[in-house]
Amino acid sequence: MADAARLGAIDTVMHEDRLFPPSAEFSAKARIPSLADYEALWNEVAADPVAFWEKVGREELHWFEPFTETLRWDEPQSQPQVAEWFVGGKTNASYNCLDKHIAEGNGDRIALLWEGEPGDTRRISYVQLHKHVCKFANALKSLGIQKGDRVSIYMPMVPELVIAMLGCARIGAVHSVIFGGFSAEAIADRNNDAGAVAIITADAAWRRGKVLPLKQTVDEALKKSPTVKHCIVLDRVNEAVHWTPGRDYWWRELTRNASDDCPAEPMDSEAPLFILYTSGSTGKPKGILHTTAGYTLWSKKTFEWVFDHREGDVYWCTADCGWITGHSYVTYGPLAAGATCVLYEGAPDYPDKDRFWEIIDKYNVTLFYTAPTAIRAFIKWGDDYVDKHDLSSLRVLGSVGEGINPEAWMWYHRKIGGERCPIVDTWWQTETGGIMMSPLPGAIATKPGSCTKPLPGVIPKIIDEVGDECGPDQGGMLTIAHPWPGMLRGIWNDPERYQEVYWSKVPGKYLAGDNARCDKDGYYWIMGRIDDVLNVSGHRLSTIEIESALVSHPAVAEAAAVGRPHELKGEAVAVFVTLKNAPPSDELRDELKKHVRKEIGALAQPDDIRFTNTLPKTRSGKIMRRLLRDIAAGKEAVGDTSTLEDYSVLASLRQDEE
Ligand code: PRX
Repeated sequence: MADAARLGAIDTVMHEDRLFPPSAEFSAKARIPSLADYEALWNEVAADPVAFWEKVGREELHWFEPFTETLRWDEPQSQPQVAEWFVGGKTNASYNCLDKHIAEGNGDRIALLWEGEPGDTRRISYVQLHKHVCKFANALKSLGIQKGDRVSIYMPMVPELVIAMLGCARIGAVHSVIFGGFSAEAIADRNNDAGAVAIITADAAWRRGKVLPLKQTVDEALKKSPTVKHCIVLDRVNEAVHWTPGRDYWWRELTRNASDDCPAEPMDSEAPLFILYTSGSTGKPKGILHTTAGYTLWSKKTFEWVFDHREGDVYWCTADCGWITGHSYVTYGPLAAGATCVLYEGAPDYPDKDRFWEIIDKYNVTLFYTAPTAIRAFIKWGDDYVDKHDLSSLRVLGSVGEGINPEAWMWYHRKIGGERCPIVDTWWQTETGGIMMSPLPGAIATKPGSCTKPLPGVIPKIIDEVGDECGPDQGGMLTIAHPWPGMLRGIWNDPERYQEVYWSKVPGKYLAGDNARCDKDGYYWIMGRIDDVLNVSGHRLSTIEIESALVSHPAVAEAAAVGRPHELKGEAVAVFVTLKNAPPSDELRDELKKHVRKEIGALAQPDDIRFTNTLPKTRSGKIMRRLLRDIAAGKEAVGDTSTLEDYSVLASLRQDEE
């Protein structure tokens, strides 16, 4: 165990010594082919970030007008602390994702390979996507929508969702994508906070063969959204819908006669590109603001670095555009890089549990990016679904959204990657705009459960409770020491909250809100959210380490660890466990306690183990430990539950109480 004596540091109980270097064959062709190359690049950027980004910014983005100042950053204490990148320049995100490739002679390349849930498909080249986007942008203009106006988007994963995002960006309207599973209430809150003038939706969406009535939900939301004047409706499912003349327009009618010529609006580098609402643990959702130039560059560059993208790759990110992953790694990053992207509309288990593997096989996907929650579900569903398909096209596998437990990592590596594909475990946040820490697949050997090293331009510092920097293997608060182009520029309408959440606790550094440790090899291990730390007999323990120990037991599918008040220890360790196939029993409960004790030590041994069929998750698949903490303490779950995916989970968890 690491030196735990340091005040305020978090104990490390996990031991993970497996190391997986990239194959010589992979490295030989990689953009960044060795550790030495990575280190040289990282050091170059750290030594002079402004010089590096000035060069890359000029070379890799298209500029209507060049920028005059690379970074404006009033260190240390402007209030609120907002970086400005590429000041004085004018560019356009949509231009960079479309026109630039056409100008460079790559217009016939396929941009989107779309697969609808019922099996319908579309192939859309960059030239065709450009036409669709221009028509839609002109349609927006015909409604009087202008630069700076906010537009909500509430759609299924169809090409028109990407077209709507790029159409807004083209004319300088600020999009706010709202995940298609949110309620009318959540939509209205977001419309009102953003002051949206329009909303783009579809009649309905397909989900596991059923029809989700999106327009009906929007109708409900618009009763409470006084700023929204226009509603554009795509006919995806042919559902009957209510119609409000003068407010509602069919997408196809509006675009039919619109011109396919719509020059991209030259936008200031720092002009808002989009707002994306993300839930805080308390209080209302935060509208995270990203701007034009820095975000576009960061999403493009990080995509190229992390996925080692090259011509001929077929890339598939399974995230919905309702989340930041869908913004940065479905839309802006890959399209700015000129990639060919698979877009899939539906659920991973429809019509059967092999749908993802079928898609990889069908399109010869080479780069695949998904979330640990999906990987754990695949493990639970069993290997037979995987074995039916040829996955030999795969080259790089990615993971995002939560820590990936080492045993889930090993399954992904063996079963999906055929022990041949590097796994890029990417740590980042809605706020960071793009990936911050990740293996570079040709350069950095991986360790299961570690996001390995910071990308060039990212300078992490781990800080303990008293404000000092932690040493090797000491867990503390993860902060970032220098601005990077993709960082958030604020919380919409709430500069005080922005300052307080991200900049007040550790002055001058961006506070990520996660705990982490850096091991003696310089590898980073995310230890969970700061608010989720357990304090057992004066030892501060991370959730993910206890959970990973549980998941390494063959009977366990998923686990969530939380603290509950305990008279003697301060907090006791309470865990909630879902099982693969084994029936719950007292014997298994004892066995799991012993297993954790053996794997990571007596300190972390769970006091309570509850078996459950499902864990409460956000709609983006993250375990909601906050609710479990209340349940473990025998309290009503309080606070914001609007992002909870399935409300019935709470009731059933309470019934399961011992
Ligand atoms: O706690 C970290 C976790 O997800 C948080 C960010 O969530 P969100 O803004 O929804 O963005 C998700 C997609 C980037 C982080 O603060 N997280 C994300 N990726 C990882 C992770 N935790 C551990 N390892 C990761 N790779």
